[in-house]
Amino acid sequence: MSDVVQYELVGGAAIITIDRPKALNALNAAVLSGLDAAFARARAEGVRGVVLTGAGPKAFVAGADIVAMKDLSAEEAQAFSAQGQQVFNRIADYPGVVIAAVGGFALGGGMELAMACDLIIAAANARFGQPEVNLGVIPGFGGTQRLVRLVGLQRARELVYTARMVKAPEALALGIALEVVDQGEAVDRALALLGTISEKGPLAVAYGKQAVNSHLDGTLAQGLAMEARLFGQCFASADQTEGMNAFLEKRAPEFQGA
Ligand code: CAA
Repeated sequence: MSDVVQYELVGGAAIITIDRPKALNALNAAVLSGLDAAFARARAEGVRGVVLTGAGPKAFVAGADIVAMKDLSAEEAQAFSAQGQQVFNRIADYPGVVIAAVGGFALGGGMELAMACDLIIAAANARFGQPEVNLGVIPGFGGTQRLVRLVGLQRARELVYTARMVKAPEALALGIALEVVDQGEAVDRALALLGTISEKGPLAVAYGKQAVNSHLDGTLAQGLAMEARLFGQCFASADQTEGMNAFLEKRAPEFQGA
């Protein structure tokens, strides 16, 4: 489908792999459009779980492509930022669950990409960071906003101002990574987690994602209103009836996704 982004179905899940290992999977225009196309395909195929990863042992993604960026004008750089943000927003809004399986470097746009996913599984060799200030720029693919929400104001400021790289154990402690697994195991662990989630009520998982994500956009009051609306909507579904009946009847539920 793309020279630089691979798409593979494993069980019911899709594995999307950024495949530019010689440039540590850096994000240029071809990778961004390949990513967008891969997620559009997964969406069209109704895939409920996606693992996003990078090819090669060294990097998830080492950032936006510095070669492609270095001569951009201010207007072109703003457009590049907007393009990346749109692609990442579509990943964040993907109707199923998206897990980043991070081995090696997740820097700059790579960390921003991982943060656009629902969950991050880190391999023991993972390194996270927003090193943009080393290059005289700031994060441009959503990092200033998503990092604050993920780790809080103080730590986000420190990481954005200092460009310090965070190793896997600290990423776990800070809540950047959900789990740390042995090197080479992140994709398998992400698939196992998607397997667990796939047994749950599909509508409920999708609504839960929407409700959790709503806090990213607006005020607490808006988020609570959205939560109440979607909570109510669950009760218009057969899955809610089945899920609650199955609990009370002490049996496993059989969800229909409707
Ligand atoms: N863009 C383009 N090429 C990159 C790259 C990037 N972000 N990161 C690495 N590469 C290339 C290197 O230039 C090198 O290419 P050559 O073999 O042709 O020389 C190749 O990948 C391997 O990299 P290194 O030789 O540097 O590998 P290393 O192990 O010595 O260092 C590293 C690894 C610490 C990750 C280092 O490559 C590095 O610091 N990369 C840049 C990280 C960075 O600054 N990312 C932020 C980019 S700005 C951004 O992302 C803005 C935004 O928010 C939109």
